[in-house]
Amino acid sequence: MKRPLFKMQMLLLIAALVVFGGSLKAQNAASRFPLIPYPKKLVEGKGLFVINAQTVIQLPANGTYSEEAGALNEVLRMNLAIKAGTRSSAKSTVIQLVSDAAITRTEGYRMQITPKRLTISANSGVGIFRAIQTIRQLLPESLEDKLQIAPKQLSLQALIIEDEPEYDWRGMHLDVSRHFFSVNYLKKFIDRLALYKFNKFHLHLTDDQGWRIEIKKYPKLTQEGAWRTFNNQDSVCMARAAENPDFIIDPQHIIQRNGKTLYGGFYTQAQMKEVVAYALARKIDIIPEIDMPGHMMAAINSYPFLTCNGENKWGELFTKPICPCNEATYEFAQNVYDEIMEIFPSKYIHIGGDEVDRTDWGKSEVCKAFMQREGIKDLAGLQSYFINRMEKYFNSKGRKLIGWDEILEGGISPTALVMYWRSWVPKAPIMAAKNGNKVIMSPGSPLYFDAKYDKNADYNVYKFNPVPKGLTDKEAEGIMGAQANIWTEYIPTEQRADYMYMPRMTALAEVLWTNDKQRDFDNYRSRLMQHYKRLDELKVNYRLPDLPDMIDTRVFTDQETLKINKPMANLLLLYTADGSQPTATSSLLNDLVIKTTQKIKIAAFTPAGRRGDVYEINYQHQSLAPAATATASNNGLTAALHKGLFKQVSRISTKPDSVFSVSSIVVPQSIKAPAFAVKYSGYINVPQDDIYTFYLTCDDGGVLTVANRLTVDNDGLHSAVEKSGQVALKKGLQPFKLDFIEGGGGYTLKLQYSVKGQKAQDIPGSWLKN
Ligand code: ACM
Repeated sequence: MKRPLFKMQMLLLIAALVVFGGSLKAQNAASRFPLIPYPKKLVEGKGLFVINAQTVIQLPANGTYSEEAGALNEVLRMNLAIKAGTRSSAKSTVIQLVSDAAITRTEGYRMQITPKRLTISANSGVGIFRAIQTIRQLLPESLEDKLQIAPKQLSLQALIIEDEPEYDWRGMHLDVSRHFFSVNYLKKFIDRLALYKFNKFHLHLTDDQGWRIEIKKYPKLTQEGAWRTFNNQDSVCMARAAENPDFIIDPQHIIQRNGKTLYGGFYTQAQMKEVVAYALARKIDIIPEIDMPGHMMAAINSYPFLTCNGENKWGELFTKPICPCNEATYEFAQNVYDEIMEIFPSKYIHIGGDEVDRTDWGKSEVCKAFMQREGIKDLAGLQSYFINRMEKYFNSKGRKLIGWDEILEGGISPTALVMYWRSWVPKAPIMAAKNGNKVIMSPGSPLYFDAKYDKNADYNVYKFNPVPKGLTDKEAEGIMGAQANIWTEYIPTEQRADYMYMPRMTALAEVLWTNDKQRDFDNYRSRLMQHYKRLDELKVNYRLPDLPDMIDTRVFTDQETLKINKPMANLLLLYTADGSQPTATSSLLNDLVIKTTQKIKIAAFTPAGRRGDVYEINYQHQSLAPAATATASNNGLTAALHKGLFKQVSRISTKPDSVFSVSSIVVPQSIKAPAFAVKYSGYINVPQDDIYTFYLTCDDGGVLTVANRLTVDNDGLHSAVEKSGQVALKKGLQPFKLDFIEGGGGYTLKLQYSVKGQKAQDIPGSWLKN
C-alpha cells in the first residue's frame, strides 16, 4: 500500500513543481519583457541581438514592407540600409521582414530574435507594424524622446514571440466637439494608440457645441458652427481651474471676433487628410462620426431649414433634431457625407443616432403626412427610416454604417453596426448580436474614460469582458471588440485628456489584444509600472498610480500613525494639515502621528514636480458607539422609494411613493422610474467591537450613516465611484441608514465592509435587521 501512495505523492510533487516553475517563468518573462498588451506566446532565448549602423533591414525579394522598414528605422532612430532580396553580405546583423502566408490573421506576426538575426514574419504590413511596436516596447524608453541623442548601438534579448489579437475592433474615441483638440494632439494620440496596438480611432467631429470639420458645400458649418461663446461646461471647467490648471480653457482655441471672445476651431479638409494619412501609416483607421439626427444644434444654427419647425433649442433633455420628413434634410446629409467619405477612406462611417428628442417630429404636419405616405407607424420607426435610408446611401458608396445603440429602436437592418453605450440597457447588445448585427462594445461603465477615476478604475477596465452573457458562441462572433470613449465636456485641455485616459487605456489594450487565459491583473500592473518611464519620455500627463489604502474618513480611538507605501519609489509624498492643497513646498510625509480630529491632504509628486491626485483624509477621534437597546427581530432592511430627480440626498422628498423590505442592499429590479431615490434603514448587527471600514460605490450619489455617525459621503450626481469611511462600533445592533439617489442613465450601488485592514467583503444578509 505504501509504495504506490509514495509514487503518487512524488508524481503530484513533480507536477506541482512543473506548474509552479512554469508560472514563475511566465512571471519572470513578464517582468523582463514588460509588454502591453502581452503577446500570446513569448519564449526567452539565449544571447543578445545587436543592432548598429551596419545592421541591414532585409525585405522580401519583391520589396514589399519597405514602408514598415521605414517605421522600424523611426523606432530604432537609425538610418539602417534597407535591401530587398536575398542577403549579400554576412558581416552585419540582419533584421529580416518576411511575408508568410501561413500566418492567417492580418494583424498577427511571429518574431524570432537570435544573436545573428531578427526575423519578423507576417502576412501583411499591418502584422509587421504591430511587431515593430513590440520591438519599440523592448527598447530603451529614452528612444521615445526624439530630442535626445539616439544610442549608436542597441541590443535585444533573444526570444520567440507568436502573437495575434483577440478582437478585431480595438478602439478609442475622442470628442473634439465639446472641446477642440489640435492636429498636433491628434497625431500624438494616434501615436499612443499605435504603441498599444489599437487599430480604430473614432473621431466625434460634430455635436451641439461645435462643428469641427470643413464641409466645402456648407461653409457656415465651420465659419459659424465651429465657434461659440463660453458655455456652462466651460464655466464648470473655469471653476475647477482654481485648484487644477489642467482645467484652464486652452488659450490656443480662443479667438476674438467682432468684439466677442469665442471658443472653438475646426480641421480643414487638407489637415484632416494629413491626420488620416498619419493614422494609416500606423495601421489605424479613423472612423468619422457626424452625429445626426440629434446633437445637430451647431449645424442648425446656420442652416435652420434642417428642422421641422425652424426651432433650434434644448428640449427637455436633448437639443431639437433635424427633420427626417423633408427631402432637403437628406440632400444636406448626403452632401455632407460625400465630403466626409472623400476625406476618410475607412470602411466604417459613424452616423451617431443617439439621444434624439422626437417631440417636434410628432407635432409636425409634414411628418404626419410623411409617415402616412411611407407606412411608418411611430416616431421610433421614423428615426429608423432616417437611419436605414442613410445606411443605404453609405452602402451605395461601399461603406458600412455604425450607429449608437438607439438605432436598434424602431427596427434596424442587420447590416448596420451597433455601438453599445447605454449600460442601463444591458439587453441592447444581446438583441443586436442575436439579430445578426455586428456589435462594438463601449458601455458607459467602465468604458467612458471621461468618467471620474477611483482606485478601481483600471481594474474595472481590465476585468471588462467584451462578450456579454447570454450569447451562444456563434452569436458571440458578432462582438467585434470594444472601444473606450472620451467625451470632453469637462476636458478642456490636452493635459486633462491625457490624465483621463492614461493609464486605463493600456488596460483596455490588453483586454482586446491578449487572450483572456493569459490575462492577470497583478502581472499587468507590474508591467504597467515599467511603462510610466516611457510615458514620461512621451510627455504624457498620465494619472499617477493610486496611493494604497486611502480611506476618506479614518477613525481612531486612541492615536494613529499615517504611513503610506509609495506606489513608485521616485515619488515624494507631501501633505498639508491646514486644509490647503499640497504643493511642491508642503511638508514631507514621514510616519505622521495623528492624535486629534483633523483633515490631512496628501499628494504624490513626481521628480519633475507633477502632482498626482489630492487625497483628503478626514481623521476623526471616536469612542466605540454603544449598541442600540432596541429589539429588531425582522431580517432585512426597510427601503423607501421616492420617485423623481434629486440632486443630493438632502433634497429627497419627504413622502415616499412606496415602502417595502429588502434582504440585501440592492436596488429592486421592479423600480422603473428613470430617476428616483431609495432610503434604506434599520440596523446592522455587527459581530465584535471594532473600527469598521465601509466602501460605498454608487452612481449616482449615496450617503451612509452608521450609529448616527456620517460614515461615507458619496453624494451628488456622478458616475460610479467608490468612497470609503470608518466608524467605531461596539458589538450588537447599530442604527443603519443609506440614502441613495439615481438621476437617470443607469445606476450602480455597492456597499462592502472590512475590519483590521482585511479585504473588503459584502455585508452578510444576516447582519441586516429592522
Ligand atoms: C452617447 O454617449 N450619447 C453616445
